[in-house]
This record gives sequence, structure tokens and C-alpha cells, in this order.
Amino acid sequence: MPRLTRGSSLALLGASGHGRVVADTAHAAGWSGIAFFDDRFPALRANGPWEVRGGSEALFETLGAYDGVLVAIGDNAARLRHHLRLREAGALIATIVHPRAWVSPHSRLGPGSVVMAGAMINIGAEIGEAVIVNTSASVDHDCVLGDGVHVSPGAHLAGGVTVGEGAWIGIGASVRHGIRIGAGTLVGAGAAVVRDLPPGVTAIGCPARPLNRT
Ligand SMILES: CC(C)(COP(=O)(O)OP(=O)(O)OC[C@H]1O[C@@H](n2cnc3c(N)ncnc32)[C@H](O)[C@@H]1OP(=O)(O)O)[C@@H](O)C(=O)NCCC(=O)NCCS
Repeated sequence: MPRLTRGSSLALLGASGHGRVVADTAHAAGWSGIAFFDDRFPALRANGPWEVRGGSEALFETLGAYDGVLVAIGDNAARLRHHLRLREAGALIATIVHPRAWVSPHSRLGPGSVVMAGAMINIGAEIGEAVIVNTSASVDHDCVLGDGVHVSPGAHLAGGVTVGEGAWIGIGASVRHGIRIGAGTLVGAGAAVVRDLPPGVTAIGCPARPLNRT
């Protein structure tokens, strides 16, 4: 599978606020000719300074016109679903790293992933596909992040943390070394995770505990 870090034209699926940050990051990383696709087209024709050219089907019809394609949808499940569809359709999936982020050359970053400004990914980390490592987040040595994970702005994962597919680490959360977070789990804003979390829960607080919804 091709892994691009820059090129001349980039198509982004999902013209949201997150999409704007992805576009800005891509621009800083050297991409030009950035265009959005979003199913709200034609009602939605622009996202910040970037044009919305059509809906998702229009993107599939014009895939060959782009040097890179990336899904810029914040919702983890939707992002991963569209990413896999694009991959199967043979799209050149981009990987975007802000020039002011640090990604160790001794780490792995999967296609369709984006690393925002100020983020750090240290040696031995393995980052899956369609992952977001957001502004000023840190992913320390030997962490393993499944596909479709989102590490929100300012969240910190200590060494050897495992995060299951589609999990979401909320803004400013901290995760102690060696912790395992299950697939699809949501760690609330500002939480401190000091014990493993099972799949599919929402955990908040310090120490983080599953939110009781009864
Ligand atoms: C955890 C979270 C998902 C809960 O959202 P929710 O289901 O809408 O829950 P509510 O806002 O109704 O809150 C339910 C209770 O949990 C508390 N709570 C919610 N989020 C909390 C958090 N992060 N830490 C501590 N308590 C929290 C609320 O105060 C409320 O308590 P109460 O019932 O005593 O009033 C959400 O607050 C959160 O933290 N989301 C992460 C957002 C984020 O990181 N965004 C980054 C975007 S890049």
C-alpha cells in the first residue's frame, strides 16, 4: 500500500472542523490542491478556504485525479469505515504529519493516519490505520494503537500502552504505562487511567472508572 507524506493534490472526505485542521496540517506538510468531499454537497460548498467538490460518491468516481486521499471525519467508526472502503477501491491513501510534530523513525504509522502540530510519537510505537494523534498529544515508546483510534489534543499515553480499535482518548487524559484500553472505549476529558479498561465503556475521572449510566 502506498504511503505518501506529501504530493500535489489531496482529497479529504469529511468537511468538518476536524477536516479543516487536517487540511491545514496537510498544507503545512507540503500538500497543495487540497479539496473536500462531503455528502452535504451541494448545500455545503466550502470548508474554510478549501472547496467542497462533491459528495462521497463523487470522490470514488474521481479517485485517480488525486495523489493522496484521506478520511477527515472525527467519528472513529465512520472514519474507519470510509477509510477501508477507499482502500478497497484502490485509493492512494495519504499519511499526514505536521512538520512541527515528532514521529520517531523507529515507529510505525499506518496509512490514513494524521499527526497534528506539537504531537510526539516515540520509538517503538505502532500506530494503526486511520488514527488521529491530535494537537500536542504524546504517544510514548512501544505503545500500540489499533485502527481508527483518536488520541485527543493534549492527551498523553505513557510507554507500552495498548489502545484497541476505535477507542477514543479524550482531551487532556493521561494513561499510565503498560495499560490496556479495550476497543471502542471512550476515556473522558481529563481522566487519569491507572487500571486496564474493558472494551466499549466510557470511563471518566481520576482514577478513571466506567461511567455509571443507570
Ligand atoms: C465522558 C463524556 C463522553 C461524557 O459525555 P456525556 O455522555 O454527554 O455525559 P454528560 O455530559 O451528560 O455527563 C454525565 C456526568 O458525567 C460527568 N462528566 C462528564 N464528562 C466528564 C469528565 N470528562 N470527567 C469527569 N466527569 C465528567 C458530568 O459532570 C455528569 O455528572 P453529573 O451526572 O453528576 O452531573 C464527555 O464528557 C467527554 O469527556 N468527552 C470527551 C470530549 C473530548 O475529549 N473531545 C476532544 C475533541 S478533539
